[in-house]
Amino acid sequence: MINILAIESSCDETSAAIISDGKVLNNIVANQTIHEQYGGVVPELASRAHQQHIVPVVDKAFKDISISKKELSAVAFTRGPGLLGSLLVGTSFAKSFALALNIPLIEVNHMEAHILAHFIDEPKPKFPFLCLTVSGGHTQIVLVKDFLQMEVIGQTQDDAVGEAFDKGAKILGLPYPGGPLIDKYAKEGNPMAFSLPEVSLPELNFSFSGIKTAFLYLIQEKTKENPHFIQENLNDICASLQYSLVKILLQKLKRASRELNIKEIAIAGGVSANSGLRNALQTLAVKEQWNIYIPDFQYCTDNAGMIAMAAHYKFLAGEFCGQEVSPLPRMTI
Ligand code: KG4
Ligand code: ZN
Repeated sequence: MINILAIESSCDETSAAIISDGKVLNNIVANQTIHEQYGGVVPELASRAHQQHIVPVVDKAFKDISISKKELSAVAFTRGPGLLGSLLVGTSFAKSFALALNIPLIEVNHMEAHILAHFIDEPKPKFPFLCLTVSGGHTQIVLVKDFLQMEVIGQTQDDAVGEAFDKGAKILGLPYPGGPLIDKYAKEGNPMAFSLPEVSLPELNFSFSGIKTAFLYLIQEKTKENPHFIQENLNDICASLQYSLVKILLQKLKRASRELNIKEIAIAGGVSANSGLRNALQTLAVKEQWNIYIPDFQYCTDNAGMIAMAAHYKFLAGEFCGQEVSPLPRMTI
């Protein structure tokens, strides 16, 4: 049996998961609420919170399952991309754990893991497929040729789409992370209420900084006319922002699918939890005759279950790393 303990600590979620022969048995996530009041993740506070959470989270991952620490085949961890101080906690913990148990160590790329989360549950995508990976730090279209063979074919040239959601929410005075709140208010709003400019970059690349600035100006201008503008129009404002962001994402995804003639389409990352994106993707899939793959909510945002799944395939491929390994905050696919 291949039993792996996986650790995720790249940003503000401390997570541990156990996978046995490719089946995720436990996936424990501790969120850090401390950042809410600062309107974004404070790296120094994130690494301190990881230090506090990591031991209890790992202990909890071994609860109610039949696998003990002695039965582990390997320990996996997120090497990057992410915040250096946060990554260091998971990396150091995993290295010590592997050393103490005298078992191999597996480094995992967080962005590849978001995509491989699709292999945790059914239905699983067939190779080759396209994955739109949308998170707080990344916006990419990835051509996935095999479990460990991926190529980024388009990406954002400035902000990530999750950042655009979060910064938009901040402009509205909502706490961090604002993406889920925009989603919630958008459900009751009219997406056509306010129009935002369409910024389209060549090929399969994205840009979100222009729309963010246009959104800021729109809110400033309307608030000058009516100081209660935000409170009175919150649902419509959120629906309009979400509509524009989702439209940009799906336009490029459609273009990629047509150019490469691939109709197996997946979405991954924190923003793939967005209901506007999920619904619009379902509608587009019918038109374009796509087979679409949308992860379970617990595997959209950061979690160690996806790190465990990636580690399982790396174990099968014999891809291990040594004790000299250190985090790569800017690790790429
Ligand atoms: O993948 P993730 O957990 O962390 C990174 O690797 O960045 O993604 C976090 C991002 C945040 O920007 C958060 O606001 C966004 O995902 N997010 C959402 C939703 N849930 C999480 N954005 C829009 N709608 C949601 N429902
Ligand atoms: Zn992530």
